[in-house]
Amino acid sequence: MRKVKKKTNRKFILILITLFIVGLALLVRKQNNFDFILHKSENKKEATAPKFPNYDNTSTEAEDGLLEVTNPKSNLVLVNKERKLPNGYEPTDLVYPIVPLHGVNKAKTLMRKEAAHALEKLFERAEKDGIQLTPVSAYRSFDRQQSLYNYYIQIHGEEWTHSYSAVPGTSEHQTGLAMDVSSPKFGNKLEKEFGETKEGAWLADHAHEYGFVIRYPEDKVNITEYHYEPWHIRYIGIKYATYLYKKDLVLEEVMKPKKKKTH
Ligand code: DAL
Ligand code: ZN
Repeated sequence: MRKVKKKTNRKFILILITLFIVGLALLVRKQNNFDFILHKSENKKEATAPKFPNYDNTSTEAEDGLLEVTNPKSNLVLVNKERKLPNGYEPTDLVYPIVPLHGVNKAKTLMRKEAAHALEKLFERAEKDGIQLTPVSAYRSFDRQQSLYNYYIQIHGEEWTHSYSAVPGTSEHQTGLAMDVSSPKFGNKLEKEFGETKEGAWLADHAHEYGFVIRYPEDKVNITEYHYEPWHIRYIGIKYATYLYKKDLVLEEVMKPKKKKTH
């Protein structure tokens, strides 16, 4: 009698252990599956392009043959040789970013609020990494761009000016979202060799983490239609800047026109 009871107990314990092991195995499998699903969706997220504004829906045809943008206040506004800002456009939220000036004129450092705060974070991080950056030139009104443009025409001629300086009304500097960056070590100059300095390389590697892109890269001259400007950074927001950085794209490549111009 005692032997039978002992046998039943052992059987019961064996069943319990088996159930426990099966339960544990199922739990582990479920967890792994869950991780896999999560992982998959994260990967997918990374590969999916964030939504950029539509090229055609964000402009209307202007009398001078250019397109006039209808979203000048958007962080993603696209201005270039084909697309200009509305006449008289001025941002309404310009502020001075609180960053070391390294001897440059503070009056030239105005940026739109969100971009200015992002610049502060970018420069703070640079300092932490032992990199000193200078905020050389940010917001430029239409009139300021006009006098700069005229000056360049006089000094360097039309060809040079067209590839380095925007026609007034088409400059990202008028949006309040751009900053020309140099370094005290490089004499605060805006020259293409800045891209080869430690500071220029740091900027190219880290700008996107704070929402900026190098707007006129060396290998995209035929797309942007501007010469390489390793100093010109443009705020578009972290998600978008990181996407362009990782995919090695410029704004023109993600915002292509659907309609072909007929004239
Ligand atoms: N240097 C850039 C293209 C500008 O003038 O806006
Ligand atoms: Zn610039």
